Amino acid sequence: MPKYILAIDQGTTSSRAIVFDAAGLPVATAQKELTQHYPADGWVEHDAEEIWRDVQSLMREAVAKASLRGSDIAGIGITNQRETTVVWERDTGRPIHRAIVWQDRRTAALCRQKVADGLSHIVQQKTGLLIDSYFSATKIAWLLDNVPGARARAEKGDLCFGTIDSYLLFRLTGGKVHATDATNASRTMLFDIGAQSWDEVLLKIFNVPAAMLPRVLDCSGEFGVASADILGHAVPVTGIAGDQQAATFGQACFQPGMVKSTYGTGCFALVNIGDKPVLSNNRLLTTVAYRLNGKTTYALEGSIFVAGAAVKWLRDGLKIVEGAAETATLAAQVPENHGVYMVPAFVGLGAPYWDSDARAAILGLTLDAGRAHIARATLESVGYQTRDLTAAMKADGAPAPAAIRVDGGMVANDWLCQFLADMLDVAVERPRVIETTALGAAYLAGLATGVYAGLDAVAYGWHCERRFEPRMNAAARAQLYAGWQKAVQRVLTR
Ligand code: G3P
Repeated sequence: MPKYILAIDQGTTSSRAIVFDAAGLPVATAQKELTQHYPADGWVEHDAEEIWRDVQSLMREAVAKASLRGSDIAGIGITNQRETTVVWERDTGRPIHRAIVWQDRRTAALCRQKVADGLSHIVQQKTGLLIDSYFSATKIAWLLDNVPGARARAEKGDLCFGTIDSYLLFRLTGGKVHATDATNASRTMLFDIGAQSWDEVLLKIFNVPAAMLPRVLDCSGEFGVASADILGHAVPVTGIAGDQQAATFGQACFQPGMVKSTYGTGCFALVNIGDKPVLSNNRLLTTVAYRLNGKTTYALEGSIFVAGAAVKWLRDGLKIVEGAAETATLAAQVPENHGVYMVPAFVGLGAPYWDSDARAAILGLTLDAGRAHIARATLESVGYQTRDLTAAMKADGAPAPAAIRVDGGMVANDWLCQFLADMLDVAVERPRVIETTALGAAYLAGLATGVYAGLDAVAYGWHCERRFEPRMNAAARAQLYAGWQKAVQRVLTR
């Protein structure tokens, strides 16, 4: 019996393939950065063919690095940047346009129109989402209306829509399977999360033909078989979940009230709310956390569009740091933030503000402020934004969590983890495996193939590597957060 799982984590800025063993530990990793295309202000695109090429070579590289063969892999798990929209030809698998990335704001005006038309309530009731260009629905419509002939071809069933998971599954199976999982479907704004089905009313509202939609399956089970030419052996795809849901799973947040917060390109905090899709009154999203054996578990989600991306901007845009790790050193060099705040609204602001037109700002600069203050303000902005989310969760009635489980590349930064604990006034737990997103996909794939025994075994396998306790006094916390709230007001457009 093969005992390893290969997880594909296709993220916004990079793709990864990681081999996990039966204990849930990473054995080998391969990674490649992904080209970002910014064709116009607020537009962000990816080349889905490049993603597909990279993923194939990363899969081979990871398996080779682990000194394994395709036949040692029991199943493949896919996790992915969510909402990013691909439309491709059913016959050839070729995309008809570059993928429109979740961060892309080109359909913001269309969304504003839908809100003005009074559709917010029905959309939230069915999907748990707030009408925003973040989600796939308006991106699909944009592609159909802007690529010549696309709408007619989609209506005939010649074109497929999918998020990245669905596109990869289609290509891995040689075009045999057009499917997705319930978590990814829940981010399209076309899926009724209560009924667990595509919804005709929503399809009409957003003008998307049903013929192009994938089948929606549980997160763990048989999705299809990756053809033998990829790993030299036909390997089944047995797990799929959007990356934030996969991280929730990898963090073993299986009990209502448990919270995880992932720090990648953006930051996404999810609290498990059990088996009822309770709607938020505080501008959070209700989403599918996971669906196993036809049983859905829901989460409330706070989505922040920019966290690690701001650090990347310090490195590649401003060029004031050489690498992400340097931000921790710089932040620690100054005794306090000096009144400097960064509001990283580079692609607008997500939860709880939902302002597509807001743009980033650094405020409170004086002549003696330097790069250390800017680096510190950037890291602090991640803490303040997370506090905005946990405050909204509390206002929505979520019980105060005993601790917040954090993951993602940014949490290697101890300074950030301590600041999070201080700002949230709750313990922050960093697990042994911070590649929790890939781990979650591996668990989902491994549950279906018997490599992992069940949810209890997953929960048992979760280990805290370091726990950060809050140390800041209440007055200092309140003062810093008040400064952030004032700074945000300066960039909001409505
Ligand atoms: O909703 C977008 C999210 O799935 C992207 O995650 O890790 O690529 O920033 P990440």
